[in-house]
Amino acid sequence: MSYVKYSPRVSFVIKNALLLSFALLFTNCGEDTTPPTVYEKSTDCSNIESLFQVAEFPIGTALNYDAFLTDVAYRDLVETHFNSITAENIMKPSNIHPQESEFNWGASDSLVQFCAKHAKYVHGHTLVWHNQLPDWILNYKGTKKDWEDMLQKHIQTIVLRYKGKVRGWDVVNEAFEEDGTLRKTIWLENIGESYIEKAFIYAHNADPSALLFYNDFNLESNLTKREKVIQFLNTAKNRGATIHGIGLQMHIYHVYPSELMLKETFDEISSNNYKIHISEMDVSVNPLNKDIEPDSVLLADQAKQYERVIRLYSQLPYEKKYGCTLWGVTDKYSWIRSFFYREDYPLLFDDYYKQKPAFFSMRKALCLY
Ligand code: G3I
Repeated sequence: MSYVKYSPRVSFVIKNALLLSFALLFTNCGEDTTPPTVYEKSTDCSNIESLFQVAEFPIGTALNYDAFLTDVAYRDLVETHFNSITAENIMKPSNIHPQESEFNWGASDSLVQFCAKHAKYVHGHTLVWHNQLPDWILNYKGTKKDWEDMLQKHIQTIVLRYKGKVRGWDVVNEAFEEDGTLRKTIWLENIGESYIEKAFIYAHNADPSALLFYNDFNLESNLTKREKVIQFLNTAKNRGATIHGIGLQMHIYHVYPSELMLKETFDEISSNNYKIHISEMDVSVNPLNKDIEPDSVLLADQAKQYERVIRLYSQLPYEKKYGCTLWGVTDKYSWIRSFFYREDYPLLFDDYYKQKPAFFSMRKALCLY
């Protein structure tokens, strides 16, 4: 029987993919403490189409659930290039917990089942946020203890349901202002500062194997905010909270932040003993909302920024690299266009699902570093 002959690298990648699939089937999504066998770097991965198959850490995307159900081309890209899935919206409080006594599990269950079947990690987003809250929480009335009990039930019902199936959670999202003070959210007003550490304690008690993250934006560009966040999380850990890592959302621009700012960010968080999840990366090429065309110069700058982030991230110790998640697959569905009402082209695939220069620069960086 003649066997297909693969190049050594391709066979190495296939073996790794099979090992990951096998491992995922038989283990909780717990901490990946053992690095893979010596990861074979290469100068050229152009013969390997898939992004995650050339990476030594999970490559994720925020999943647009409607597109996933209805757009075959979109779904193919998700299956081919990403081995970690973050629900862009369906696991947020307003969707998953619409009434105090009602949870909406359908979409999230389907997503978790898809990921288990296709050997993909699930990253849970997000348990505690000030946005996309259901009316029953916005209108909730009670004592501080009532609010704590409500928060605990919210968190533990969701985390328990997906115990061992969700690798990590964004437990608290965007709790700080740009000046480093705590955002005046409904949680802060009714529970006080301790809501953050309590949220992590509730989540850890519900699923001790899940990796728990604080997630926020601009930490890669705002030193004051980053230092205040790290200081606050260190205190919360000293008071008993289990916090494994920090999610850097990385909604960045083609020409900002600089290489030095990125490196200082990774080094500061890693040296404070937090895993780093690049949790929502996209690279805007039109931050000033001009009337632009995605010309070759803009796309080349964008490609350089993707390469820069991956190269610097790859230099971190293995155990600090939780993974790199992009906030979307194709420019066509990017949140930026509807949120800012602007033309933008922030992701790896264009409106026609075609690979952009950023795809090739990211794949090359994953392969090389
Ligand atoms: O599903 C409804 C649809 O039924 C309705 O017809 C439509 C028009 O009102 O709205 C749809 O819901 C929208 C939802 O996205 C799904 O498309 C919401 O209005 C819209 O606000 C929501 O935007 C999301 C945004 O978070 C909310 O703040 C974006 O998709 C999502 O990409 C974005 O993601 C956040 C992260 O969770 C946290 N970090 C920042 C990031 C970008 O804002």
